[in-house]
Amino acid sequence: MAFVTSPAGTDDDGPVRSWREAMNDALYGERGFYRRPDGPAAHFRTSAHTGSLFAAAVVELLGRVDRELGHPAQLDLVDVGAGHGELLSCVTEQAADGLPFAPRLRLTGVEVAARPAGLPAAIGWTEQVPPVTGLLLANEWLDVVPVDVVELTVAGPRTVLVDPTGRESLGGVPSAPELAWLARWWPLTCVGNRAEIGSTRDAAWAGAVSQVRRGLAFAVDYGHSAGERPAYGSLVGYRSGVAVPPVPDGSCDLTAHVALDSCLAAAPGLLTTQRAALTQLGVRAVRPPQELAGRDPAAYLAGLRDAGEAAELLDPAGLGGFGWLLHGVGMAVPLGSDRAT
Ligand SMILES: C[S@@+](CC[C@H](N)C(=O)[O-])C[C@H]1O[C@@H](n2cnc3c(N)ncnc32)[C@H](O)[C@@H]1O
Repeated sequence: MAFVTSPAGTDDDGPVRSWREAMNDALYGERGFYRRPDGPAAHFRTSAHTGSLFAAAVVELLGRVDRELGHPAQLDLVDVGAGHGELLSCVTEQAADGLPFAPRLRLTGVEVAARPAGLPAAIGWTEQVPPVTGLLLANEWLDVVPVDVVELTVAGPRTVLVDPTGRESLGGVPSAPELAWLARWWPLTCVGNRAEIGSTRDAAWAGAVSQVRRGLAFAVDYGHSAGERPAYGSLVGYRSGVAVPPVPDGSCDLTAHVALDSCLAAAPGLLTTQRAALTQLGVRAVRPPQELAGRDPAAYLAGLRDAGEAAELLDPAGLGGFGWLLHGVGMAVPLGSDRAT
């Protein structure tokens, strides 16, 4: 693609801005994508949308945290970037079925979007991460924290600018902190290569984690670590289940893979895969025995459904390959790793 070099400003199609500013407006501005009533589930599928096993694994983890913390009088489960509250609603159902810590459980969704209609009354809804004693989670939040895009030119790295139609141009030299982040986490070596500067995600994650007084924080996302960065970046749009060119006009999601190793450095702990984490939390993709079909057809069908759901959550080429970033406060991370951190 050929670029013209231009200062930030406006063109005939609207303001020319850095990707970070454009994403911020297109996703979270007054008419932003995430302000729309249809919600993320209308456009892409996350672990929270697959069924109840992901919530059951979160409940299992919450139980471990509760034990580690010595059964606090109030046990928090805070979901940052809670979407339409799918995960918390599912946990509410499981709590109603008789979890031992249910009477002490406080559920909170942290969201830019308005409280969804019909959300169970027991779930709190806020824009700010509250103080947490218990478990804070963020499923596919960090990938939608706006980032700047930088391209290496013959004159050095330049910030990529974009107008509301998605037309790009090259701007100025990135700031000193951005250059330092690039040098440490994503050095560009070939002209034309691109990076997404993850310092905004590092700060977002460290900020959320800082609200945990005692307990565990974990973030789940697709991402990369040093040595496996995409040469031309990963910024893409999603609309109605389909990947589309990233156009910052509020019509589509805008997302880029997360530099997970850099986030881990911002809040040290453990980095593992969803497959490894969920396996340790009891998720198994095992078909029910054939003989169950005759003896208890309903149980057999439920077992088949669970096996399919688990296979989706554990798929190493899909959700199972996502990274889990874990950080304990006043407790050890109650999971092991399957990859070097
Ligand atoms: C990709 S969706 C994931 C939703 C849900 N966690 C799931 O797994 O289905 C990201 C969500 O994060 C929310 N979000 C992004 N930045 C946020 C912020 N700073 N505070 C609260 N919510 C935010 C968006 O509005 C969106 O609902």
